[in-house]
Amino acid sequence: MKSNSIMKPSRRTFLQAAGAAVFLGNLPLAAIAQSGASGKMKIGIIGSGRVGSAVGGAWVKAGHEVMFSSLNLDDDKKLAASLGGGARAGTTREAAAFGTVLLISVPYKALPSIGKDLGDLLKGKIVIDTSNPIVARDGDMAVTAREKGAGQSSQEFLPGARIVRAFNAIGYARMADAANQKERVGMPMAGDDQNAIATASALIRDVGYEPVLVGTLATMGKYLIPGTPLAGERSPDEVRKIAVTLK
Ligand SMILES: NC(=O)c1ccc[n+]([C@@H]2O[C@H](COP(=O)([O-])OP(=O)(O)OC[C@H]3O[C@@H](n4cnc5c(N)ncnc54)[C@H](OP(=O)(O)O)[C@@H]3O)[C@@H](O)[C@H]2O)c1
Repeated sequence: MKSNSIMKPSRRTFLQAAGAAVFLGNLPLAAIAQSGASGKMKIGIIGSGRVGSAVGGAWVKAGHEVMFSSLNLDDDKKLAASLGGGARAGTTREAAAFGTVLLISVPYKALPSIGKDLGDLLKGKIVIDTSNPIVARDGDMAVTAREKGAGQSSQEFLPGARIVRAFNAIGYARMADAANQKERVGMPMAGDDQNAIATASALIRDVGYEPVLVGTLATMGKYLIPGTPLAGERSPDEVRKIAVTLK
């Protein structure tokens, strides 16, 4: 795997990515994914379990202000205290109101109620969605979600949110210290909103991955779950090559 020049991709890399020829507005998706720098952001974590605590913890280390939430506020207070820095705890509504960006990382069957309970707070919000429909855990709704595609399903459960699917098929244990890995792993992501994609890209870089925009929620969101050719850890170029074969 080749180490990347992250903010300034080579012309060749850009052309390879642009070769996927997916366009959003007037900009090729690859160009959108290359842009953006996060600065210090306010991030709300909805679901501070294995993924939420690992990624949220890495964002705290990167200097962001992060509010953790789950079904258990005491656990979130302990987690925030252990992380220090810009970490704090709140209810899911408080976290949704706090974050300019939200990470929603819950069992998929919780998405419908989260969409209803937080609906007003999600409208227009950038949401990074790690949640996967897993039939053995989430039941029949996961069957329907997989048939429809996880990208489209999440958008229906969280109407008005500017969703980017990412962190879906890489094990959580590596997420906390991805910044220390020698070679950057490519993080496939899918989304429809240019600003959301640029912001998510910058935040993905902040935790040590190289974002690779593979397409829109409807076209490629279905591949961002475990068990597809895009699942697992591989170089950004490998992710791009696989994505092209799926289009
Ligand atoms: N584990 C992985 O390696 C991995 C990798 C990529 C993607 N994913 C996907 O990412 C999602 C999270 O995975 P995980 O392994 O982090 O799960 P997890 O450890 O079980 O954590 C789930 C979190 O969601 C919270 N939660 C559940 N229902 C909620 C609700 N209605 N409102 C707010 N919070 C709620 C839980 O709170 P309580 O603890 O208080 O119940 C917990 O904090 C899943 O969809 C999973 O398939 C997992």
